[in-house]
Amino acid sequence: MNTDNILDFLKNTGQDSLARYIESCEPVTKASLLDALSRTDNRIMEHIKSRGETGTASSYGGRIAPLNALTLSAIDKQREKFTRCGLGAIREGKLALLLLAGGQGTRLGHDSPKGCFNIGETRELYIFELLIAHLSDVVREAGTHIHLYVMTSLENNAPTISFFKEKNFFGYDPDYIHFFIQEQNPVLSTDGHFLLSTPTELCYSPNGNGGWALSLEKAGLIDEMKSFGVEWVNVFSVDNVLQRMADPVFFGAILDQGLTSGAKVVRKNAPDEKVGAMCTLDGKPYIIEYYELSREMSLETNPDGSLAYGYGVILNYIFRLDKLIASNAKAMPLHAVKKAVPYMNLSDDGTLEPVVPKEPNAIKFETLALDLVHEMDDCLVFEVDREKEFAPVKNKTGIDSVDTARELLKKNGYVL
Ligand code: UTP
Repeated sequence: MNTDNILDFLKNTGQDSLARYIESCEPVTKASLLDALSRTDNRIMEHIKSRGETGTASSYGGRIAPLNALTLSAIDKQREKFTRCGLGAIREGKLALLLLAGGQGTRLGHDSPKGCFNIGETRELYIFELLIAHLSDVVREAGTHIHLYVMTSLENNAPTISFFKEKNFFGYDPDYIHFFIQEQNPVLSTDGHFLLSTPTELCYSPNGNGGWALSLEKAGLIDEMKSFGVEWVNVFSVDNVLQRMADPVFFGAILDQGLTSGAKVVRKNAPDEKVGAMCTLDGKPYIIEYYELSREMSLETNPDGSLAYGYGVILNYIFRLDKLIASNAKAMPLHAVKKAVPYMNLSDDGTLEPVVPKEPNAIKFETLALDLVHEMDDCLVFEVDREKEFAPVKNKTGIDSVDTARELLKKNGYVL
């Protein structure tokens, strides 16, 4: 939207106090706020105009059907062949890694990036350190380093880089670690109004875990990857401390089957476990969120009695780069997500006061990694053992927490 129209837009959408506040600012701040507002994604503007009725993605319509997985036993039978194939391609430099570390980790509530969290009990053992240790296992096996791209947010980029430097990149070759910052979107209050984070800036949040493809491209890093000979990207989250990335067996299985993408999955521990489940939507790979799955569907079984929608994704995907670029040309759907976001409350008289809410007070607009899977023609559903590869750190305590992750690390022989 043109900067000249912004003030009218604010007034027409019930944001008179913000319009008056901007008009009262000194020229530099006024220009910068108007400029920031004018660069807002059109879909967010639509969301404001329609009071949340349109603009962002809701569930897709279409026919959902189960999608079979390559099971642990089937993988075991072909392990040697897959490993050979995967290691060969890794040695040729065809795989790059993409660590998603731009999240805000609000549920964990740690005051530095989640990867800097110390999961050790009697010694220091950081999440980033564990991930680099897992990666180093493959580096040793393959006899070559693998390029690792780390996606950060504007907010956590500097602390993430200093942490890696301070820890000497945990022994990984720094020439193979590349940091980049993901794009961000303005945050709205739940009644659809822009929020201020300081007297001179709007509230922003990172654009979600699907934002990496566009952000990589904008930063010119897809071209850089291609110049290194990279053809595939393995995307994974920061918060699974048992995460196995650059897994030669997983990568080799995708190559062996001539597919264009793959997703690591675990068997759900209950039909209603809160994980996205692999399936197809109108014949294309899709991940159905747990809240979209009806009770009936969640209980549906295969002829062998296993759950038809029983494979949950663990945010570890491999994509063929050329397919990704083609799909990326389309705008990724934006999802509206309610979260607790600190902001400056603007009173009618123009005074500002900081607020740190405990309950969700705002809407963030995020793209999701799972929407990229749906853009692919096919996807290998690759089962892994959840006890060995799935220990997410989302919360402080309870389900998927520091406590459960520590338990699983110990079960896998880690001394904490
Ligand atoms: P989550 O969806 O769990 O979000 O991220 P989060 O921000 O880390 O945590 P909460 O919801 O605020 O508690 C899953 C993965 O996606 C990354 C996270 O860093 C994590 O690896 N992510 C998430 C990004 O890289 N960018 C984002 O904008 C959001």
